[in-house]
Amino acid sequence: MQKLFINGGKKLYGKIKIDKSKNAILPLLAGAIMVEGEVVFEDVPPLSDVVNMCKILQSLGGSVVWQENNLVVDMTNLSAHDILSPLASKLRSSIFALGPLLSRAKIAKIAYPGGCEIGLRPIDIHLSAMRTLGAKIVEKNGYIYANGSAMEGADIVLDFPSVGATENAMMGAVLTRGITRIFNSAKEPEIVDLQNFLNKCGAKISGAGTNQITVEGVSKLHGCLYSTIPDRISGGSFLLTVAMCGGDVEIENFLPYHNQALLSKIKQTACFYDIKNDKIKIRSDGKLTTFGEVETAVYPGFPTDLQPQIMALASVCEGYTLIEENLFESRFLHVSELKKMGADIRCKNNVCIVHGKDKLFGAEVSSADLRGGMALVMAGLRGEGYTTVSGVEYIDRGYYQIEKILSQVGADIKRIEE
Ligand code: EPZ
Repeated sequence: MQKLFINGGKKLYGKIKIDKSKNAILPLLAGAIMVEGEVVFEDVPPLSDVVNMCKILQSLGGSVVWQENNLVVDMTNLSAHDILSPLASKLRSSIFALGPLLSRAKIAKIAYPGGCEIGLRPIDIHLSAMRTLGAKIVEKNGYIYANGSAMEGADIVLDFPSVGATENAMMGAVLTRGITRIFNSAKEPEIVDLQNFLNKCGAKISGAGTNQITVEGVSKLHGCLYSTIPDRISGGSFLLTVAMCGGDVEIENFLPYHNQALLSKIKQTACFYDIKNDKIKIRSDGKLTTFGEVETAVYPGFPTDLQPQIMALASVCEGYTLIEENLFESRFLHVSELKKMGADIRCKNNVCIVHGKDKLFGAEVSSADLRGGMALVMAGLRGEGYTTVSGVEYIDRGYYQIEKILSQVGADIKRIEE
């Protein structure tokens, strides 16, 4: 089993370049199912979630080839419409294939998705959107059986601005005749990226980034060359890491307007940052004051995907910090592990109070999900002594070769086999 072995207490200096966004490329790969032609995605990080999504496309009869850092996908010969549980259960994004398969093939059979165990993560809003488009859907034995032969454009109202359900609804409408309007849609940047990609392939979508998206059905999509947005959650994770450990690091491919909520917290902690275009330079002496409180919310509110990481930062910020998790019902799996390292955290329901300490200490800790794992790495880098982080497979889902990125800025971290 692989683990990360960290000797903490080092300040970080140098440069970090942020990869393309995991949560953008995954729905785009699903969208490629609808394209008859070759799509070239530029500079894609070979994250385990991306590799598994590629396996899904291949299982549907598609061709997926890595050409250096580019991913070349051709779904012209789509020859299957079922995604079985061994593949589907590996990641949440397998459900993103539902809309595209119904849009193009008018039929789908997909096992329930997997994903980080941060809550129940139902798919009722996804299914409700497809039914509103006229799809006949039956759930049986852990599978979704869907028939889209009678689908046509409709007004969809999402009960909650779910990111995935918004993306699925958009894709379900792209090759469905008529006009579809999606109300109460999520506004995340990844949804704007999906609109831009699909429109480059010939779709007619407008309104992404707002709470109302309109899709005019077209008959066919063609291939294109596409470059997705940088990963705002990776960018935010490394910004918080430098703030927590101390040092002076320039982070490239960081779009400030994608991280305004985070920046408003960072500026309250006595760190200094300077932004020039898509680069942010952050300086910290590691002696921090708390930002007071954070409540996770849908975009452009504070992202739930940075909650574990900012909790790690709060554990070394002088004062008391209130952290409220409003998106997922069990996204505090990292708390017990941070406490093993000396963090003072008390939780009740979806709220934690963190009493900042100036010291954390190395320990043997275990990741239970992707972003919680990143929080443990951050605490190990700051803490005195040695930390071993197991469950590295979770971290590899969203951070490619994390030990190499951090070693390049002076962290003493390596991947070991135990
Ligand atoms: C996307 O997940 C991201 N994943 C998540 O990132 C992110 O945390 C989440 O959006 C929120 O921003 C990808 O894009 C691949 P949701 P998604 O549907 O689409 C409830 C990471 O670490 N809900 O917006 O699954 C749901 O249970 C991952 O990179 C329903 O009730 O998130 C949750 O409480 C983790 N019914 C809330 O909505 C549904 O049908 C938000 O979920 C769908 C969702």
